[in-house]
Amino acid sequence: MNTKTVALAENQAPDWWLFLNKFLRQGTGIAALAPSSRWLARAVVSGIDFTNTRCIVELGAGTGPITSELMRHATGDCRAVIVERDADFCQRLRQRFPHADVVEADANDLERLLGERGIDQVDHVISGLPLPSFPPEVRDGLLHVVHRRLSADGTFRQLTHMPWVYYKLYKRYFTDVRFRLVPMNLPPGGVYVCRGATPLAA
Ligand SMILES: C[S@@+](CC[C@H](N)C(=O)[O-])C[C@H]1O[C@@H](n2cnc3c(N)ncnc32)[C@H](O)[C@@H]1O
Repeated sequence: MNTKTVALAENQAPDWWLFLNKFLRQGTGIAALAPSSRWLARAVVSGIDFTNTRCIVELGAGTGPITSELMRHATGDCRAVIVERDADFCQRLRQRFPHADVVEADANDLERLLGERGIDQVDHVISGLPLPSFPPEVRDGLLHVVHRRLSADGTFRQLTHMPWVYYKLYKRYFTDVRFRLVPMNLPPGGVYVCRGATPLAA
């Protein structure tokens, strides 16, 4: 297949196929064999009081299973900023969610992205990013921004395919960390729901 044919095939491929191909090529940068199941996506947003939510940021949206849940629940008063660095995924996100603010960018530019949009406070940050594989200083930098921008009773929600393994990691950053297991996913996964910023070294 020439490059044009591959591009066309990727454009029309089902999500799982596009995802798997990207995983095989990029490994830890994608960090999952397949998009999150609808059960995992629902667990990630479960408990969010959308009537009192004014701003949600999703980092590492992929093909959009969690975005879809956000769009289903978010009221007209809720602003959602969807950040994904992969151009093919962004194209799908924009096709599927034409009214969403889909940003093709590195999540590590979060401070700038919020500043450009005039956003001071975020009620919930949802991350599908492979955070454990980020260099510690990069992860610290991103979580510093999350700490600064998260509202007092806001949550940071981190998707995982390694149930409980990174509990201690998130406890370094947040005072209250709870884990929800979701067996109905390939592989079984879950979500850390984190509250309360632990002060980080400057
Ligand atoms: C495990 S997948 C999760 C995808 C989607 N949220 C889901 O639940 O199916 C991780 C996603 O994070 C994206 N990603 C990885 N590093 C990123 C970064 N530094 N900035 C923005 N997106 C990133 C990848 O392109 C991929 O789409």
